[in-house]
Amino acid sequence: MGLSLPRRVEPELLDSLAVEDPRAQRSRQDLRRIHRAMATLSIVQHALDCCTAGFRPRNLLELGAGDGSLMLRLAQRRSAGWPDARITLLDRLNLVTPQTLEGFHKVGWNPCVMTVDIFDWLAESDNTPLDVVFANLFMHHFSPDELTRLLAGIAMRCRVFLCFEPRRSSLTLVGSHLVGFLGAGPVTRQDAVSSVHAGFRAKELSKLWPNPQDWVMWEYSAGLFGHCFFAIRKDP
Ligand SMILES: C[S@@+](CC[C@H](N)C(=O)[O-])C[C@H]1O[C@@H](n2cnc3c(N)ncnc32)[C@H](O)[C@@H]1O
Repeated sequence: MGLSLPRRVEPELLDSLAVEDPRAQRSRQDLRRIHRAMATLSIVQHALDCCTAGFRPRNLLELGAGDGSLMLRLAQRRSAGWPDARITLLDRLNLVTPQTLEGFHKVGWNPCVMTVDIFDWLAESDNTPLDVVFANLFMHHFSPDELTRLLAGIAMRCRVFLCFEPRRSSLTLVGSHLVGFLGAGPVTRQDAVSSVHAGFRAKELSKLWPNPQDWVMWEYSAGLFGHCFFAIRKDP
């Protein structure tokens, strides 16, 4: 489908709701259904394997990690090859349960929860190098100016950056209007459509990545509805 949709970032309903609001809790559960429809886990696993071929990540950071459940599922699949990894789950809300933390410990990973706005973290954190920075359904929240600042801050701190986002296409837009059929509630039904309008296509993220000569970058359509971008530092 060839319609060219201009990118449009608007506030998502979920971001305006209190953590304990039942509509927010429902919407976070809906995310798991959305991940299944987007084939998130297999796409991200594959991309992560491409990005880390030849080295073993020890220090990972997830931005906008939500309840951490997606990262836990990745950890369960990767912990045999990446033992003792340290995973930092950054989100402006603290949504990670003790059970999820226990899940990381069970697979031998060392989790750390950081409850902070990403831009405060970028302003305050040192540049301790991270092996992998990962973001899922997070980057589309930001305007072009914010994205430029965000990507520059990430690039200063990591060896590999990987994100998986909604693809801004007419097929994904149609899909986003149908999430009710997956059982999604009203908040997710509205936010899914907003997310697609704020999503990415073509090489939009590559164009914003700083010092491209120092990185190997891939940006591509992934699955029916997703858009993947990764950058690997050439000289770590
Ligand atoms: C759509 S959810 C995705 C959660 C998780 N990554 C997933 O895929 O299941 C986006 C997350 O980003 C967080 N978020 C949004 N803006 C943020 C910001 N400025 N700083 C930190 N976290 C933010 C929200 O609290 C939310 O948990």
